[in-house]
Amino acid sequence: MTAPAMTPRIDVAILGATGMVGQRFLELLDRHPLFRVAELAASDRSAGKRYGDAAPWRLDSEPLLQDRVVVACDPAAVRSQVVFSALDKGAAVGIEAAFRDAGHLVISNASAYRMAPEVPLLIPEVNPDHLELIRGARGAIVTNPNCTCIPLVVALAPLHRAYGVEAVTCASYQAVSGAGYPGESAWDMLGNVHPHPGDEEEKVAEEPRKILGTLLGGTIDRAPFPISARCVRVPVTDGHLIAAQIRLKGDPSPEDVVACLREFVAPYDLPSSPRPLLRLTERRDRPTPRTDAMAGNGMAITVGRVERCEVMGVKLFALAHNAIRGAAGGAIANAELLHRLGMIATG
Ligand SMILES: NC(=O)c1ccc[n+]([C@@H]2O[C@H](COP(=O)([O-])OP(=O)(O)OC[C@H]3O[C@@H](n4cnc5c(N)ncnc54)[C@H](OP(=O)(O)O)[C@@H]3O)[C@@H](O)[C@H]2O)c1
Repeated sequence: MTAPAMTPRIDVAILGATGMVGQRFLELLDRHPLFRVAELAASDRSAGKRYGDAAPWRLDSEPLLQDRVVVACDPAAVRSQVVFSALDKGAAVGIEAAFRDAGHLVISNASAYRMAPEVPLLIPEVNPDHLELIRGARGAIVTNPNCTCIPLVVALAPLHRAYGVEAVTCASYQAVSGAGYPGESAWDMLGNVHPHPGDEEEKVAEEPRKILGTLLGGTIDRAPFPISARCVRVPVTDGHLIAAQIRLKGDPSPEDVVACLREFVAPYDLPSSPRPLLRLTERRDRPTPRTDAMAGNGMAITVGRVERCEVMGVKLFALAHNAIRGAAGGAIANAELLHRLGMIATG
């Protein structure tokens, strides 16, 4: 009996391979059914070094690709057409544009181009139609949302579709790994909580409106509801928890909201997308980062405490793994959708 023919995997490169999200990419792409890591790229500080020397392994898993030589983030040094980016925002501005202009498909975690009108801000289970923005483009950038937006926007998506969201207020409890390595100072984080000094609150206020927006005549018409966000870093390793109060048209009961969330089914079956994507917990002490961040191999969103809010109508907690669902895993799922839709060259 002959063994079934293996489909050759598609070579990909990782820009920013030496960072926290870069290492998650390596971990998640190891034995991936569609993609194979061919090239690792980072800054001039790392280029030319063995990966193991440039980037001491910081995850719990076995170190990978330790002897691979890191290359510069230069399109001339990278052959793979598909390029995952885990670059710092400042570096991403010029480097991602250079790769796009050289004809690469850049699938990015960085915030540099998320709100650009021609760039899909994609959650494959929520707004796959937004990929129409890049159909036919030779090179393109596709982004995934901020890691704090993810649990919020996935919970809002079915509710917006069923009822229409009118307003949201929320507060985050964000893990330290969300700030990369070395991230926040020990002084700020040990025995403390730390109101986010960056532009996280603006991202949480704006990105869901683009993701839940409507594709009209080649542009995204943003969803009209306001979001007021407060973002706080807490001494947790992985997993961003968000507490949200939501005003919905028609003022549905918490039971109706739970039923709506339970009915949500993602439109495509993708290798990295768990089923169900949204997990409802009935326990009053959940979700928590320790118990729920790794749900669905770190790709599920856990929602709990869906209750009546006397001010906004309904309130809930939602949680996602920031570095998997909120970063590398989300980008890989985006690439899987591009592959499914025939938007990645396979030959
Ligand atoms: N951590 C998370 O949970 C999370 C979640 C969602 C999105 N993100 C986003 O993902 C990106 C990476 O985050 P991270 O946490 O992995 O950060 P990080 O640990 O600080 O890693 C940054 C990476 O960017 C590279 N880099 C920095 N400046 C560069 C330059 N001028 N040229 C080329 N490469 C350069 C670094 O290379 P060297 O090592 O050579 O300096 C490193 O590989 C950021 O844009 C972040 O906002 C992170």
